[in-house]
Amino acid sequence: MNAPTAGAGRPDDMAPPPGSRRPPGLPLGQREDPVTGADRLHVVFGTGQVGSALAAHLADLGIPVRTVSMHRPSTPPGGADWRAADVTDPEAAADAAKGATVIYQCLNAPYNQWPERFPPLQRGVLAAAERTGALLVSLENLYGYGPTGDRPMTEDLPLAATTVKGRTRAAMTAELLAAADAGRVRIAIGRASDFFGPGVTQGSTLGERVFGNALAGRRADFIGNPDLPHTYSYVPDIAAGLATLGTDARAAGQVWHLPGPPTVTTRALLDLVADQVGHRVGVRAVPKLALRALGLASPMMRSLAEMSYQFDQPFVLDTSKYQSVFGPAGTPLAAAVAATLSWYRTQTSKP
Ligand SMILES: NC(=O)c1ccc[n+]([C@@H]2O[C@H](COP(=O)([O-])OP(=O)(O)OC[C@H]3O[C@@H](n4cnc5c(N)ncnc54)[C@H](OP(=O)(O)O)[C@@H]3O)[C@@H](O)[C@H]2O)c1
Repeated sequence: MNAPTAGAGRPDDMAPPPGSRRPPGLPLGQREDPVTGADRLHVVFGTGQVGSALAAHLADLGIPVRTVSMHRPSTPPGGADWRAADVTDPEAAADAAKGATVIYQCLNAPYNQWPERFPPLQRGVLAAAERTGALLVSLENLYGYGPTGDRPMTEDLPLAATTVKGRTRAAMTAELLAAADAGRVRIAIGRASDFFGPGVTQGSTLGERVFGNALAGRRADFIGNPDLPHTYSYVPDIAAGLATLGTDARAAGQVWHLPGPPTVTTRALLDLVADQVGHRVGVRAVPKLALRALGLASPMMRSLAEMSYQFDQPFVLDTSKYQSVFGPAGTPLAAAVAATLSWYRTQTSKP
């Protein structure tokens, strides 16, 4: 597969000299595998919901970490350096990643502008990885698969998305794989489902409208059928999974579904929330037709409506490949819900 796009090409100083045993993608003078080398700097692009949790997790592991985003985060992840860059500029992205041995892509674009705004972000990160020779660990969601009927999602499923955002994601994955196939970069892709956790408020099905509402004694807003099994990922588990992909040499060159709490129905999860807040949590399911009608007037609602298939059929992420290689992982659901509620309580008690 030829690489269609990927920012700037490989600079001359990265061409392997004849007879060199240097793995492709490593800059001159760097003979060690970046995953196992002692001089390591991990650069996390994105200081949002996952990026900041990942940076904190890596710092806890004793790894030097730099985070990169456009605006200074209000609470910079402890132990991590921060640098400002507009990642759509490949030069700026590469400059911000100087010295990296591993780069993580945890960026995101506005939900209703993915086709125009998301691919240029990834191209900036790809250019940074190509120029530094760093391993690129990219976080993806599951939109690229499209509807799978009753079938649990495994890594070998084709990317057969039928939605605007799903096709964008699938095209972005194809760009990454093409760059890797062409030997321009080494990658590992980690995929996770709709997430929740401390710090997750907006942009998630299980954010403020579920946890915030539950604590305030209001009904949880939910789109679709709550009685179907649905995998929800937990942000600290995603961070741990991405860190494994960045530090274990077996991860490179493959796609991995990141483990999280066991899959249950959305209603069972909401019942657990109710148990822990100590009162019933009603569910206000927004009907699909209403969502479509709202979508006629609002691009954001239209963007939400196209993804509603995920809640009209079982939506189960199979993470057995990861667990068979790297060992059992994933926080028990009750503990994940408790930690999330505990964070929400600290927010509501703030003046
Ligand atoms: N939401 C879910 O349930 C879910 C589930 C699984 C996977 N995912 C995937 O996880 C990834 C990360 O999502 P997230 O929710 O953690 O993201 P997020 O909280 O929306 O954060 C996005 C980050 O991207 C940065 N950014 C955007 N444009 C930039 C630019 N031009 N230059 C530099 N930085 C830029 C933002 O920085 P500034 O604020 O400074 O602009 C921010 O730090 C996405 O690929 C998403 O699809 C999401």
